[in-house]
Amino acid sequence: MEETRFLLGAKDLPKTWYNVLPDLPRPLDPPLNPATKQPIGPDALAALFPMALIEQEVSSKGEIPIPPEVLDIYALWRPTPLRRAIRLEQMLGTPAKIFYKDESVSPSGSHKLNTAVAQTFYNKQDGTKRITTETGAGQWGSALSIACKMFDITCRVYMVKVSYQQKPYRRSLMQVFGAEVIPSPSKLTKFGQQVLKEDPECTGSLGIAISEAMEDAVTSKNTRYSLGSVLNHVLLHQTVIGQEAKKQMELAGAYPDFIIGCVGGGSNYAGLALPFMRDKLKGGKKTRFIAVEPRACPSITKGRYAYDHGDTARMTPLLKQHTLGHVFIPPAIHAGGLRYHGMAGIISLLCAEKCMEAVAYHQSDVFKNAMLFAQAEGTIPAPETSHAIAAAIDIAKECKKTGEKKTILLNFSGHGYFDMGAYDSYLAGKLEDTECTQEEIEQALQCLPK
Ligand SMILES: Cc1ncc(COP(=O)(O)O)c(C=O)c1O
Repeated sequence: MEETRFLLGAKDLPKTWYNVLPDLPRPLDPPLNPATKQPIGPDALAALFPMALIEQEVSSKGEIPIPPEVLDIYALWRPTPLRRAIRLEQMLGTPAKIFYKDESVSPSGSHKLNTAVAQTFYNKQDGTKRITTETGAGQWGSALSIACKMFDITCRVYMVKVSYQQKPYRRSLMQVFGAEVIPSPSKLTKFGQQVLKEDPECTGSLGIAISEAMEDAVTSKNTRYSLGSVLNHVLLHQTVIGQEAKKQMELAGAYPDFIIGCVGGGSNYAGLALPFMRDKLKGGKKTRFIAVEPRACPSITKGRYAYDHGDTARMTPLLKQHTLGHVFIPPAIHAGGLRYHGMAGIISLLCAEKCMEAVAYHQSDVFKNAMLFAQAEGTIPAPETSHAIAAAIDIAKECKKTGEKKTILLNFSGHGYFDMGAYDSYLAGKLEDTECTQEEIEQALQCLPK
């Protein structure tokens, strides 16, 4: 019988996060002040984040110790299993080996808790009493609600309206942990009111929800803001995934030829990919890194690599990234966590430097492959995760044609048990594939700062 689970014990939990910044092919372009177009200093972020996180954002140290309080909480579900999808391989008749790192076993059901716990810990240390945030699919809001409850901090989540309607039980989950959940755009912020005035039917977007959560944080007492993706410190916290996966691939006696992950803001994929990327950048490994995005929100494959705001109200500094323009509102696809106009600077730079590739899928193809995976492996992937699965299955099918015995590793970023409405739509043949024309994208890109 072939081994299908590669498990580590508590003693194998990584004790440090891996910081890719000193290993990048060139330094990241600095965040800029939108008014002066000059690089911002750490103080510009101090109203939003505790200094420990700001320091991590710009750190040049290759390894950053994980505080014992955070490790204790990680140990509730980490190390997560690495699994071999042997039944999927058999179903496809591929000579390729398909491995997946299973982040769905966390209490919130996805990778997001890795950074939620760390960010909340540093906020607690700094005296923060209340945290605001946005959530797309509800995974990030769920994770932050749990972490805030653990550290006794009040939490308000602005949830993109379309997801609020599609996933009522995600809202209930956050409420179980004491969070207040507000459909965004809302009337509680000036920016939300402005959006609703212009379009009362607006279904929301991550960019709008980020603006509302930031406005709330900077206008409220003892309140800070927490972001679930995109920023360097968020990607840093996720590197526990890839560090564990490296040890587990050794146990499996294999090294990945392909490393695949879905990208919304880029954090789960970076978490898996970056520790392996080090082997490519410093050790000459030839692994192919493939970031997978929706065709309805194709930031890397069709966006521009330019300075842009991270949110719709232009409250964030200018960040160099692959972007569709901060005014771009993606169609209401079911992978709510991938409906973001921009991309992490680290992922963007690695794509621009051709260390990483990106592909885009329609949601009907994504769900067709999610069904295959579910039926073979007996577990239901989140719509976001299913993007990575679709790309992995396509590569495995290619291997069937060529007879190549490649090793594929993907990040199983979350389960889909709160996303059954999406599966219902697929099964009823009601899923629509939407794709923006290049013209529409060019139109949205007009908003880029000159
Ligand atoms: C399960 C899951 N995977 C992936 C993502 C995409 O986010 P990121 O690119 O930051 O990993 C999300 C975002 O909500 C998610 O919920």
